[in-house]
Amino acid sequence: MSNEFAGKTAIISGGAGGIGFALAEEFGQLGMNIVIADIDQSQLAEAEQKLQDANVQVLACPLDVTNFQQWQDTVAATQAKFGDIHMLVNNAGVGGVPGSIEDTKLETWKWVMDVNVMGVVNGTQAVGPSMKRHGQGGWIINVASMAGMNGVPYSGAYAASKAAVVSMSESWAAELKKYNIAVSALCPAFVQTRIHESLRNLQPEYKEVKEQGTGGKRSANGVNKAKDLVESGIPTSVLAKRVVEALQSGQAYIFTHPNFRAPIAYRSSLLDAAFADAENSPIVSHLKDDEIKML
Ligand SMILES: NC(=O)c1ccc[n+]([C@@H]2O[C@H](COP(=O)([O-])OP(=O)(O)OC[C@H]3O[C@@H](n4cnc5c(N)ncnc54)[C@H](O)[C@@H]3O)[C@@H](O)[C@H]2O)c1
Repeated sequence: MSNEFAGKTAIISGGAGGIGFALAEEFGQLGMNIVIADIDQSQLAEAEQKLQDANVQVLACPLDVTNFQQWQDTVAATQAKFGDIHMLVNNAGVGGVPGSIEDTKLETWKWVMDVNVMGVVNGTQAVGPSMKRHGQGGWIINVASMAGMNGVPYSGAYAASKAAVVSMSESWAAELKKYNIAVSALCPAFVQTRIHESLRNLQPEYKEVKEQGTGGKRSANGVNKAKDLVESGIPTSVLAKRVVEALQSGQAYIFTHPNFRAPIAYRSSLLDAAFADAENSPIVSHLKDDEIKML
């Protein structure tokens, strides 16, 4: 098989189901060695079997992305089986629980940030250094969301976590370019997965989140609405093919839903208008042509 992925090795967090599993199948078909790492061990065993049946070289590792030691164990097991790691897909994530500002428990914020943000940080800290060291280049795909491109009412924690993932991707893309490591932020809108049932993956230490998930009519409505939206989404297989296409054309932002162009363009126009307002401000207009300094 000749393509730029064949014979290389990918670790996919949350690879036992949904988007992660579809990416495992797609990159496996392209000849990559696939490591699926997931908190759901029974789903993990099923996914491993399916990939083996499709003749994919696969390793399955139990992993809670919030646990750095488990990430290090995953890296060690991958290197022992396949050698160098060339691709990291920071995909594992949870949808949180829909709710207003006051209905969203601090525990929910903590859970969503720990999995969706710190999970990505842990993965990149565990895998990144070895990718830099082996010098062959590679890919880091951070699964953000269209929700990371714009705020989402009643989903503040989820949207904030995904905006953080976009921002980390931008920072790391600039930082890792010289190592030939391409970092991209995958920003889908709705995809047919079990993201609306994320409470199934709740770790025991965040047990208070469950009370919000089952707490009354408003939250139940939010959960039902989330289910409808997710079910109206694109199939995971379509998303996976689109990811390969966008990587091959070197996209830093991987968009899967061109219909969201208008709302995001509107947001960009608001930002531009805010700059124009600052340029016209007697208080700060003198900074307009100042040199921009970076680290
Ligand atoms: N489905 C959508 O509409 C959609 C849209 C935009 C972004 N996303 C993002 O896509 C990613 C994948 O979600 P999905 O839609 O496939 O949902 P999903 O719930 O079907 O799959 C998530 C996978 O991650 C695993 N997981 C959850 N918590 C984990 C943890 N702490 N450690 C390790 N694994 C864990 C689950 O067991 C599951 O296999 C998430 O980051 C999600 O935010 C999804």
